[in-house]
Amino acid sequence: MLLDTTTLNQQRNFFDGHTDIWLFGYGSLIWKADFAYLERQPAYITGWARRFWQGSHDHRGTPDAPGRVATLIRAQGEVCHGMAYRITPDVLAPLDIREKNGYLREKVSLTFRGQHGNAQTAKAATEGLIYLATEDNPAFLGEAPLDDIAHQIAHSHGPSGSNKAYLLNLARALRELGTDDAHVFAIEKQLLRYQ
Ligand code: SIN
Repeated sequence: MLLDTTTLNQQRNFFDGHTDIWLFGYGSLIWKADFAYLERQPAYITGWARRFWQGSHDHRGTPDAPGRVATLIRAQGEVCHGMAYRITPDVLAPLDIREKNGYLREKVSLTFRGQHGNAQTAKAATEGLIYLATEDNPAFLGEAPLDDIAHQIAHSHGPSGSNKAYLLNLARALRELGTDDAHVFAIEKQLLRYQ
């Protein structure tokens, strides 16, 4: 089911008056940075885990045959690695459109992995934004056996390309970041059986 969160997100101005904002990407925003940014840094957030539980009706699937893309769930003690981008506020408008199928802007604390942290302020941690698709959005698909998730991803295609490419690109990007993600890598393993 489609829900357009664009208008809602325009009202979620957590960083009003700021000249730059840190955006933390954990899914396609890691490997498909098709937006302008001032700098980027590997980073992580704690208490969250990546899951392929969000339906994609507009990018990696269709309204009739949705794909599955990443969102985050609360998970005490877990660490989710990704990429933080320092952006100017005008970049949020196109991102709101890209993430419109159920994702809402949320404020998070993020920690930079680099020794020197944020090049601009030399801080190791800062407040930033994520796009989060929670279980109460209509496109949320939720938990399913990994085999079923892999099967759905293997057979889904949308305007942005195959769902398989989304997952394989994410798995590759996580490896390049030197991070482990048991959920993503387990789906990748199943998915490769379909090739
Ligand atoms: C993200 O990448 O941070 C959000 C989910 C997505 O667009 O894949």
